[in-house]
Amino acid sequence: MQTQTGKLYGIGVGPGDPELMTLKAVRVLKSVDVVYAAASTKNDYSLAVNVAKAHIPDNTPVIHLAFPMTCDREETGRAWRQHAQALAAELKTGRSAAFLTLGDPMTYSTFGYLMKNIRTIAPDIDIETVPGISSYQASAARLNTPLVEGEESLLITSGVKGGDRFRSMGGKPENVVFLKAYRNVPDISAALQEADMLGTSVAISHCCLPEEEIIADIREFEHRTPGYWTLIMAKHRNGKSAE
Ligand SMILES: C[S@@+](CC[C@H](N)C(=O)[O-])C[C@H]1O[C@@H](n2cnc3c(N)ncnc32)[C@H](O)[C@@H]1O
Repeated sequence: MQTQTGKLYGIGVGPGDPELMTLKAVRVLKSVDVVYAAASTKNDYSLAVNVAKAHIPDNTPVIHLAFPMTCDREETGRAWRQHAQALAAELKTGRSAAFLTLGDPMTYSTFGYLMKNIRTIAPDIDIETVPGISSYQASAARLNTPLVEGEESLLITSGVKGGDRFRSMGGKPENVVFLKAYRNVPDISAALQEADMLGTSVAISHCCLPEEEIIADIREFEHRTPGYWTLIMAKHRNGKSAE
C-alpha cells in the first residue's frame, strides 16, 4: 500500500509576543509530527521557535535549517534547494511538518522560497499557510496609529537598498513602512526628508519582544546602526503618535 504524503504547514507565529499567535497556529503546532524553522548558520538560533516553544509538544522534534546570511543568490538558492529536498523526503514518509516564520509567512518570508522549491521538487505535496500578525500590523497597534484610513494607500517596502525603492515609486505614498531597515538608514531618512515625511517617521525595534524599543526620531540612526528586527513607519500627514 502506498504511504500518503504528509502535509506541510507554513505557520506565522506573529511579531514576538506568544499571546499574538493565532489559535489555528497553536492547534496545528500541537498536531504536526515535526517542526522546522530557519536559523542563521552562525548561531543555530530561531526567534520564531523561541516565540512558539510553549506550544510545541516536548516530544516533537524541532529542526533548524541553516540559512546563510548572505546576498549571494547562488548560495542561498543552493541552501533552499537542499532544505526543500530534505523536507520533501520527510513528508513523503507520511509525516506532517510545520515551518515557522516570525510575523506572517507571506510577507518577506523564508517560507516563500521554501514553498517554491518544494513545489518544483514535489508538486503533489499539500501545503497550507496559516497567516500570522505581521510586524507592521503589530507596530501600528503598539503605536496606536492607524496604518491607513479612508482612501489612503500604504507602501510596504524593503529598506535594504536604503530609500531608492521608495524614491523609484514616486516617493509620495500617504503611508510607508520600511521593513529590513537595519542597513542604510541614513539614506532612508534622506528619502523621507525629500518626501517631507521625516517629521512623522518612527522606528520600532523588537516590537512585542522584551527588548522592544520605540525610536521617535529616526535621525538617531545617524549615530548608531539599528538591529535586524527594526522597521520604520512614516505618514504623509500630521498625527505622529510615537510614545
Ligand atoms: C524578512 S522580514 C520578515 C517579515 C515578517 N514575515 C513579517 O510579517 O513581519 C524581516 C524584517 O521584518 C521586520 N520585523 C519582523 N519582526 C519584527 C519585530 N518584532 N519588530 C520590528 N521589526 C520586525 C524587520 O524590519 C526585519 O528586518
